[in-house]
Amino acid sequence: MLSQPNITVTPFEREDIPALAEIEREEFSIPFKEKDFEDLYNTSYSYVLVARQGEAVVGYVSFNIIIDECSIINFATKNEFKRQGVGKKLMDTLISHCKGCGVRKVFLEVRVSNAPAIALYEKYGFEGVGISKNHFSAPREDAILMNLEF
Ligand SMILES: CC(C)(COP(=O)(O)OP(=O)(O)OC[C@H]1O[C@@H](n2cnc3c(N)ncnc32)[C@H](O)[C@@H]1OP(=O)(O)O)[C@@H](O)C(=O)NCCC(=O)NCCS
Repeated sequence: MLSQPNITVTPFEREDIPALAEIEREEFSIPFKEKDFEDLYNTSYSYVLVARQGEAVVGYVSFNIIIDECSIINFATKNEFKRQGVGKKLMDTLISHCKGCGVRKVFLEVRVSNAPAIALYEKYGFEGVGISKNHFSAPREDAILMNLEF
């Protein structure tokens, strides 16, 4: 499959917020709105890393870091850029950022049916450590809690 060598990953800027909200609307049944990203922008322990091709936002990962733990809030690649290595670039950058901050553990919840995301996380060594019943809405679905320790 085609890999995109010209993807850069950097922390988000306020002007990225409309593009991030657009990806949310495309990818999620209960999308984060611009106000939600504004809240992340104004929270000292919240981060969003943005993948770009040129000026265009093509993916992102949002997360919180509290002491030595990172919880991933959301992770998405714009549809036409999927399966081209954007998710791996975002995860590589997230992990090196976490290691640089002294994070020892990264965790997240993912829908049990979300095979692409689960495959991405397993590729990086995340392990399923529990099930949260009815964790997600629209549609209602269990979550797998996945955990990566350094
Ligand atoms: C999960 C997601 C972020 C992956 O992004 P991506 O940019 O397509 O990922 P990459 O191209 O870097 O792929 C990385 C690895 O993920 C796995 N993967 C990605 N898409 C996959 C698919 N459709 N089927 C199986 N494995 C897949 C593979 O292991 C892949 O490695 P490979 O290409 O060497 O086989 C993307 O599918 C997405 O945005 N999904 C919708 C939003 C979502 O569900 N987010 C997760 C919320 S917890």
